[in-house]
Amino acid sequence: MRLAVTGGKGQVVTALIERAGSRGHEIVPLARPEFDLAQIETIAPLLAASGAQAVISAAAYTAVDKAEAEPDLAFAVNAAGPGALAQAAAELGLPLVHLSTDYVFDGTKAAPYVETDPPHPLGVYGASKLAGEEAVLAAHPAGSAILRTSWVYSPFGANFVKTMLRLAGEREELGVVADQIGNPTSALDIADGVMSVAERLVADASAELRGVFHMTAAGETSWAGFAQEIFAHSARLGGPSARVQPIATAQYPTPASRPANSRLNCDKLARVHGVALQDWRSAIGPVVARLLAPTP
Ligand SMILES: NC(=O)c1ccc[n+]([C@@H]2O[C@H](COP(=O)([O-])OP(=O)(O)OC[C@H]3O[C@@H](n4cnc5c(N)ncnc54)[C@H](OP(=O)(O)O)[C@@H]3O)[C@@H](O)[C@H]2O)c1
Repeated sequence: MRLAVTGGKGQVVTALIERAGSRGHEIVPLARPEFDLAQIETIAPLLAASGAQAVISAAAYTAVDKAEAEPDLAFAVNAAGPGALAQAAAELGLPLVHLSTDYVFDGTKAAPYVETDPPHPLGVYGASKLAGEEAVLAAHPAGSAILRTSWVYSPFGANFVKTMLRLAGEREELGVVADQIGNPTSALDIADGVMSVAERLVADASAELRGVFHMTAAGETSWAGFAQEIFAHSARLGGPSARVQPIATAQYPTPASRPANSRLNCDKLARVHGVALQDWRSAIGPVVARLLAPTP
């Protein structure tokens, strides 16, 4: 089927473009400058013209620290824009899969978060994404599935894996935060999960398939543990690696606070949609290998 996806060169939209063919789908990207979530009037006409059977809302203002200084833009792109997209999808009768984030939580829970836990964002990015969830569900309650994911990496765009490999080429030792834990998730696995959910929404109007779901890789680690795993794969492949010095969040101050516990419980997605992403440790190796491969 034809899937309209918001975003241009983002990690998830690029992964969707790469993976869609194997499932017999065609991706129609809705991207800047023509399609701009911050310019509401651009949204409905381009979605209508896409001829899509379902919509995937993968674009976002994702600069977590910069958002603290640009709240209006973050809320326009992450809340008002997705709300207008959901409204347009509802008017066209199209199901919508909207991506959201672990940063809607404050990280104080001792266990992985479930969908019914009360959100409490620590910063502007998380607050804008939470407002986006609310706007999507208000505009298109009978047709939307919100998928919260976390710690996204891929061979594309900007992400932690790329940053670690670059820094390992410059330094022998890196201080990496060890007191934030979460679920590193490959955008390629997110793409497969998103398409499974979209397929179900198109085929089945049941209310239980709609609403909020958590979708991350299985397994958990800290940023320091994630870095060590990246360097283990890289070293094995002859790429750069560095010693990881575990540090506390307080030793790496950033404009936006981040949750200490980002772990999401994904049982509901497995039970309702039959979707479970692979363990992060099995997903990371192929991504590191692609990043180290010489560009043709
Ligand atoms: N990255 C993470 O660690 C992470 C964690 C949890 C949840 N998420 C969520 O997962 C989803 C996908 O994230 P990602 O990692 O793929 O993000 P990304 O790599 O940062 O890409 C963001 C995408 O949004 C597009 N975009 C930004 N502003 C826009 C605007 N005003 N109008 C239209 N498009 C705009 C960008 O377009 P251009 O290509 O034109 O710049 C880009 O394609 C997002 O909803 C994000 O909130 C991400």
